[in-house]
Amino acid sequence: MAIYELKDKHVLITGAASGIGKELSRCFAREGAQCILCAHPSEAIKLMEFSEELRSTYGVKTWSFAEDLAEEEGPDKLYHQIKERIQVIDVLVNNAGLIVYGDFHQMDITRQIRLVHVNIRALMELMHLYLQEMMARGEGRILNISSVSAFQPTVHHAVYGASKAFVQSLSEAVNEEVRRSGVRVCTINPSYTNTPLIKGGDFPERLWWYSISGLSDPAVIAKKGIEAFKKGKSLYIPGVKNWVIHILLQRISSRKLINYISYYALKSRL
Ligand SMILES: NC(=O)c1ccc[n+]([C@@H]2O[C@H](COP(=O)([O-])OP(=O)(O)OC[C@H]3O[C@@H](n4cnc5c(N)ncnc54)[C@H](OP(=O)(O)O)[C@@H]3O)[C@@H](O)[C@H]2O)c1
Repeated sequence: MAIYELKDKHVLITGAASGIGKELSRCFAREGAQCILCAHPSEAIKLMEFSEELRSTYGVKTWSFAEDLAEEEGPDKLYHQIKERIQVIDVLVNNAGLIVYGDFHQMDITRQIRLVHVNIRALMELMHLYLQEMMARGEGRILNISSVSAFQPTVHHAVYGASKAFVQSLSEAVNEEVRRSGVRVCTINPSYTNTPLIKGGDFPERLWWYSISGLSDPAVIAKKGIEAFKKGKSLYIPGVKNWVIHILLQRISSRKLINYISYYALKSRL
């Protein structure tokens, strides 16, 4: 498959103010893409500073938009705000995401529903809005930031893994529906990565699983992820070890055994 060139493409990235989204934005700007950066309103100033940094470092055009994607009207408002200033989005990167750590029954249901709104509903709505335009043009890319958590239940953060399983299933099914056109839906599936999502919040500092998986660098994930995306890979798991653990071992092990191991491997070691 031909390399998907990013120069002068209009790339919209949600959750661009930190972590993987920030590093992806940097990579897109380095490739010469025009970046439409989106973040939660609480990060609006940080986002504007980052937008200016990309513009001065890479000489690309940038725009910044702040919207709360957990709000029911959030995705639609974001879409219309952007539409007023930029007509065509070539690449939508659905990166914004939340995690809630703790056993399902003990965790505040409002926080878990908020996670569903951001990780599932907002992603699905933005994907639907932009996909219609892409299909009408016969050109475009959706890049959903999924996770290796999409491939097996994530004990002690059950709703997070369930949300990523949804993202994965939706992305693969829709990609099959559209891939005979010039449109593609791709995912990047990182393992645990050193970002504010799992650092500084209530996610445990120590998990037994980290001794096997380690913690990835978001800049490395973004760089490798964009290379795979340009090559047209519809699903990309950074790191051979992660592929072996999350794809190969899943196929040859019993689900019951994997869930049993996960209970201990993903339990906080305070
Ligand atoms: N870190 C990992 O281990 C890991 C592994 C696999 C996949 N991922 C996925 O990678 C993506 C990026 O996560 P990250 O690790 O880079 O964490 P991060 O730095 O916390 O980035 C998540 C971004 O989403 C934004 N966001 C959250 N709620 C939002 C809302 N209601 N409205 C608008 N924006 C909102 C956050 O903004 P605020 O900071 O203002 O909330 C933040 O900028 C997520 O989809 C995550 O599930 C992460």
